[in-house]
Amino acid sequence: MQNKKLKLGIFGFGCVGQGLYHVLKETHGIQAEIKKICVKDREKSRILNSDIFTFDKYEILNDPEIDVIVELINDAPTAFEIVKTALQNGKHVVTANKKMLAENLVEIYNLQQQYNRSVLYEGSVCGSIPILRNLEEYYDNDLIASIEGIFNGSTNYILTKVFEEKKSYLEALKGAQDLGFAESDPSLDVKGFDPKYKLVIAMAHTFGVFTQPEEVINMGIDKINPIDIKYAKENNYKIKLVARAFKAEGKIFGFVIPQYIPADSMLAGVRNEYNAVLVEGAFAEKQVFIGKGAGSYPTGSAVLSDISALAYNYRYAYKKSEQGDSLPFSNDAAVDVVVSFPTGNLISSKDFETFKGGYQGNGHQYLTGSVKLEKLKAWSSWDEVSVILAPELNLVALEKSKKELLSA
Ligand code: HSE
Repeated sequence: MQNKKLKLGIFGFGCVGQGLYHVLKETHGIQAEIKKICVKDREKSRILNSDIFTFDKYEILNDPEIDVIVELINDAPTAFEIVKTALQNGKHVVTANKKMLAENLVEIYNLQQQYNRSVLYEGSVCGSIPILRNLEEYYDNDLIASIEGIFNGSTNYILTKVFEEKKSYLEALKGAQDLGFAESDPSLDVKGFDPKYKLVIAMAHTFGVFTQPEEVINMGIDKINPIDIKYAKENNYKIKLVARAFKAEGKIFGFVIPQYIPADSMLAGVRNEYNAVLVEGAFAEKQVFIGKGAGSYPTGSAVLSDISALAYNYRYAYKKSEQGDSLPFSNDAAVDVVVSFPTGNLISSKDFETFKGGYQGNGHQYLTGSVKLEKLKAWSSWDEVSVILAPELNLVALEKSKKELLSA
C-alpha cells in the first residue's frame, strides 16, 4: 500500500469520527482521504457538506476504490457485520469498538487470516495510549507478569471530581457525558463493563489469552458510598477503577474492581480522563504509560495512527498466542478487599478465605480480608454491596511467579 493515497470509508460521525476528521485535516504526511461517511440519523445537522454522507452502508462496503473501513459506531452487533463484510470485500478495517472487539476477538483474528486483511484497533484500548502495538512489538516475549491500570476515562473523571472538587456523583457523571467521554449508555462506564472489554482485548496481546467478557469479573464505581470516600481521604488514599491481569500458577487472572490507591502509587496522580497502563515484566520491572483515555481528539489520533500503520501494511501478529503457550484464563484466586454493606447478615466472616476483621459505623458494616474472585462475581450483582480492593494487594502467587521467571 506504500505511496498510495488511502481512501477511507467511515461508519459513524460522532465524537470519535469528528475527532478523526479534524486530526486528519491537521496532520500532514498521512496519505489518506475520506471518501464517504455512513451515518444513521437523516435529520441531524453536521459540520460537513451533505455530499460526503450516505445512509446506505453498501455505498461504502461495495465501493472498490475504498481501501479502508473506519468503523466508529456504537452498536456492537451492527459494527461486527460491517467488519466482516469489509474483510470479505478485501478492505482493511480500523475500529475503536471495544465491545464488538472483546465479544468477537477470536473470529476477528480468524477473519484476518482468512481474507489476508488487517483489523487495527489501537483506539479501542485506553484512547491515545499506544499500548497494543507496544504489547505486540516491544514486549515481544513471554516475560510480562502483569498489566494493570486505569482503563476508563469517564470513571476516572468522575472519581477525580468527587474527590477533589466535592462534586456529587451525578454532577460528575453529567460532566463526563457533556465532555463526550461517557458511552451512550453510561452504565457501561460506571459498572466497569467498558474497562473490562478493554482488558479482554489487552489480555490477548499481553498473554495470548482469548477470553469472553462474561468470564471476567467487573465491579464498578456506582456502589461506592460517601463513607468509602471519607475512609479513603482519612487514610490518604484515592479510589481508582483498576483493570488488572496477571500470570500466576500457570494461569491468567483478570478483573476490573475499584481499589484504594496509596498516595505514592504510580496510579494516584492519574486524574480526570487520563488513563494509565502499568506493565510489569520480570526483568524490566515496572513501566507506566499515561495519556488521555477518552475524548474526541485523543481517540481520533489513535485511530489515525492505525490508518497510518496500514500505509506500511501493519498487521497485529498476535505473537503471544502464535507462540503457542497460551495459558488458560481462571477466576480461581482470592484478592484482598474491603467490603461494605448496610448492617445486617448479608455477608459474614465465613465468606472470606482469610478474614482480617471488621467494624460497624453509620449504619454500615465493613469487613476486610481475602475473597475468591468467584464470590465477588456473585456480590457484583448485589445492589447494596460496595467492594473496594485493599491498597496493598497481596498477590502471593504473582510474586512467586515473577521469582520463578527470574530464576528460570
Ligand atoms: N467511555 C470510554 C471511557 C470512552 O470513558 O473511557 C473511551 O473508550
